[in-house]
Amino acid sequence: MNDNCGRNIRYLRLSVTDLCNLRCAYCMPAEGVEKLSHGEILSVEEIGEIVAAAAECGIEKVRITGGEPLVRRGIMEICRLCASTRGIKEVVLTTNGVRLAEWAGQLREAGVSRVNISLDTLKAGKYKEITRLGSIDDVFRGMDAAKAAGFEKLKLNAVLIGGFNDDEIPDFVALTRDEDIEVRFIELMPIGECAGWDKSRFIASDAVLKAVPELEPAGASGVARLYKVRGHKGSVGLISPISSHFCSVCDRIRVTADGRLKPCLHSAEEIKLKGLHGEELKAAVEAAIKSKPKGHRLNQAASESARSMFRIGG
Ligand code: 5AD
Ligand code: SF4
Repeated sequence: MNDNCGRNIRYLRLSVTDLCNLRCAYCMPAEGVEKLSHGEILSVEEIGEIVAAAAECGIEKVRITGGEPLVRRGIMEICRLCASTRGIKEVVLTTNGVRLAEWAGQLREAGVSRVNISLDTLKAGKYKEITRLGSIDDVFRGMDAAKAAGFEKLKLNAVLIGGFNDDEIPDFVALTRDEDIEVRFIELMPIGECAGWDKSRFIASDAVLKAVPELEPAGASGVARLYKVRGHKGSVGLISPISSHFCSVCDRIRVTADGRLKPCLHSAEEIKLKGLHGEELKAAVEAAIKSKPKGHRLNQAASESARSMFRIGG
């Protein structure tokens, strides 16, 4: 279905929990966050109703996110439900990978077609530092399990943080040499925990092209600009919400774990879906799609969203 700016909205990012088993410094406070109460979180049935209503409004692709989706109870049922909803052609999932080794096979069986793994450093010590809780070997095991389970074209998402991982750009790119993976560098957005961080931490994705001049343009994939090193099997994606925002081609809406629809990541506007059913629910989704704002001004100002990323779902 088209929004009021003529964009065909076909992609739903669905946050199934705001909890996470990591505490990435830019995303969550060290002490964690207050848990939403059981009644506030969408139930599996409510998620099913929302996805069905969204599909009736033209949504074809669902990305399951969090927080960390693999800590949500009933996650397999949720994946299965999304994959079997009429009109939904593709169900994908974003995870920090920590529990992926346990779940990869079942995710595949549940109808998930691709997984994206968030990994901001390749070094064990730095991984512990940025995630405060994580062990990088779990993530590597998760990646292996995902490949063994038959997931192809794995995507690895690294948030670029000046002074933290910009020195590792060549190492990340080197991962694409022998394997058909897409390593994606995402610009850090000033939202939540990192909103007040020093300017030097926010670096434009062009830093990747400066660090690895061999990268050659190779088209686009969704909101990512693609590059390749000649002869490498995999590719490198640059996602630049700040330096060149992609609002004009944005085809997504988001639903938070507590059942609010966000037409735009960086706008404070939210439409409450929890408690709505049937035609009323569908009408609310329709109205929300129509009201999607034209764009954000993140290069000039902080995000206007009242929520942190773990509450919205990357
Ligand atoms: N800027 C960019 N990406 C972020 N994420 C979380 N916070 C930010 C931010 N401020 C991404 C991370 C995370 C996913 C949920 O969203 O990749 O794993
Ligand atoms: Fe968890 Fe992702 Fe936030 Fe890290 S960035 S704390 S993995 S939700």
